Amino acid sequence: MSGNITFTMIKPDAVKNNFIGPILKQINENGFRIKAIKMTHFTRERAEAFYGIHAGKFFFDGLVEFMSSGPIVAAILEKENAIDSYRDLIGNTNPEKAAEGTIRKLFAESFTANAVHGADSDENAIREGSFFFSEMEQF
Ligand code: CMP
Repeated sequence: MSGNITFTMIKPDAVKNNFIGPILKQINENGFRIKAIKMTHFTRERAEAFYGIHAGKFFFDGLVEFMSSGPIVAAILEKENAIDSYRDLIGNTNPEKAAEGTIRKLFAESFTANAVHGADSDENAIREGSFFFSEMEQF
């Protein structure tokens, strides 16, 4: 039985392209409640810490460089079966493989500049949400 919380970021490409509004609209229209939200900017060090699980992979340096290149929007979302439901909504990590109508198909530029992040497990959703939000910032 999976939980009802996921964590997302609207990435620097989508913020730069003025897609915050359209992406939040999709999130709302698909039944997610926003429990926490903020616009912020990763330092390189904070991006390295957030993506520590990918350290050493061939795409790590580019990922950190990109994620610290401009502001992002971080949010905790609530819906039944949140992890799978949100991953369905955003589509494949590679936008070229993402299904029609998914957020990445609509708004992503590339594998790295792929518009949004979605947590891949209940455990990571909690960990990633806590990285950005204190208990007092979650409603
Ligand atoms: P996300 O799942 O949000 O977080 C990890 C990111 O690493 C992923 O999105 C992609 O943007 C990036 N990533 C994962 N695999 C690759 C890859 N093979 N090539 C380039 N970027 C990748």
